[in-house]
Amino acid sequence: MDKEQEEEGRATWVSGALIVGAGPSGLAAAACLAARGVPATVLERSDSLAFTWRHRMYDRLALHLPKHFCELPLLPFPAEYPTYPCKDQFVAYMEAYAAAAGVAPRFGASVEEAAFDASVGAWAVRLAGGEVLMTRWLVVATGENAEPHVPDFPGMRQFAGRVLHTCDYKCGEEFAGEKVLVVGCGNSGMEVSLDLCRHGAKPSMVVRSTVHVLPKEMLGVSTFGIAMALLKWLPVQLVDRFILAAARLTLGNTSQLGLRRPKTGPIELKNLTGRTPVLDVGTLDHIKSGKIKVVGAVKEVTRRGARLADGKEEEQFDAIILATGYRSNVPSWLKDGGDVFTREGTPKTPFPDGWKGRNGLYTVGFSQRGLLGASSDALCVARDIHCQWRERDKPTSDVHQADSSV
Ligand SMILES: Cc1cc2nc3c(=O)[nH]c(=O)nc-3n(C[C@H](O)[C@H](O)[C@H](O)COP(=O)(O)OP(=O)(O)OC[C@H]3O[C@@H](n4cnc5c(N)ncnc54)[C@H](O)[C@@H]3O)c2cc1C
Ligand SMILES: *[C@@H]1O[C@H](CO)[C@@H](O)[C@H](O)[C@H]1NC(C)=O
Ligand SMILES: *[C@@H]1O[C@H](CO)[C@@H](O)[C@H](O)[C@H]1NC(C)=O
Repeated sequence: MDKEQEEEGRATWVSGALIVGAGPSGLAAAACLAARGVPATVLERSDSLAFTWRHRMYDRLALHLPKHFCELPLLPFPAEYPTYPCKDQFVAYMEAYAAAAGVAPRFGASVEEAAFDASVGAWAVRLAGGEVLMTRWLVVATGENAEPHVPDFPGMRQFAGRVLHTCDYKCGEEFAGEKVLVVGCGNSGMEVSLDLCRHGAKPSMVVRSTVHVLPKEMLGVSTFGIAMALLKWLPVQLVDRFILAAARLTLGNTSQLGLRRPKTGPIELKNLTGRTPVLDVGTLDHIKSGKIKVVGAVKEVTRRGARLADGKEEEQFDAIILATGYRSNVPSWLKDGGDVFTREGTPKTPFPDGWKGRNGLYTVGFSQRGLLGASSDALCVARDIHCQWRERDKPTSDVHQADSSV
């Protein structure tokens, strides 16, 4: 007992880097380090890798972007995968990715605090349960989507029906015949509304402000791919004008469906604020046909439904689904003195330079650029740590030099 307690308090040094999070970002960082011969310990709070993809995404989810924009470094998707791999295929790819790189995360290891200890020049990382690990290089890979964001509407607690966040939504089957209020009109809100429709539920989707809806593809080519290609040659405003003109041709005037566009173009807005344009996967057709209702902001939740900004009457709903997004959890555990992360838990330095902090602190997957951004971060981080790792053998010779000079 005493011995156990003693052990709990003792700090263990890890050789190489310590990576927090075994999602695509953490696995990519570990694989890139392994390829350079640098060992890494990957800590994961859940019981499996790619937890977010495995357990927090709805059944019908497929990658929003073509697979070559979602590939992690060193290992491409299997050739037989479709252009837009589904959730299960993505998880299988992650499993194969970790296995190929020899990365075996430590599961059930939840990081509760990490702080730089200047006296030893290392990060002290405390896990739930009290164990403390020490590392020269701390890689934060807990994701932009670590915790579901659950807003608190007036009256929410009195609602008699079911309330769930999209992270717990799997399939519309269990809502067949029900009137469902979907709060939020990002990719998740749009897709969940569509899925509800396909399973015979009656969704109303809350659209509080403006939103850019774009076709997923134009003439068989991914809109994202076209935008990326054009950006190589044209200024972003011009690319946005082109994309918006094409969107209008294929989707019509979305304002008439209650989906007003922001003044700033979709790509520029993404770059400025991180707000991702919605890629339409069929939701608009159902809005046009009236199967999905677009409604204004929620003023108040009532026992049986809600009062909405655009209607005086209380509307009845059987369930409320919050498609209100996620937040980073970094501020809750990382004590970096506000050097690297904002209070919202994203790096202060914008892409492509946000991956490196001070004192051996690194970030992977916080660039608001999806898996492509995570890959870029992982490559940079591995290169940087590798340089220092090679240097690490020198201290002994440095010591010798210092000794001989005395
Ligand atoms: C619905 C949806 C669809 C998406 N589609 C795409 C797409 O098509 N293309 C694309 O590029 N991106 C897409 N994304 C973006 C998505 O965030 C990334 O694809 C990817 O999952 C991010 O990987 P990550 O490793 O950074 O974060 P995550 O996959 O969330 O992994 C982080 C890991 O860290 C663990 N963790 C968190 N806190 C701690 C802690 N304190 N201690 C220990 N472990 C911890 C978590 O359990 C988790 O396993 C989508 C996101 C969503 C929500
Ligand atoms: C789109 O529709 C809205 C609302 O009906 C209208 O005000 C606007 O002028 C239309 N835009 C274009 C480009 O036609
Ligand atoms: C994105 O914004 C940054 C400034 O925040 C700017 O330097 C960069 O050129 C922009 N990129 C694009 C593609 O607009």
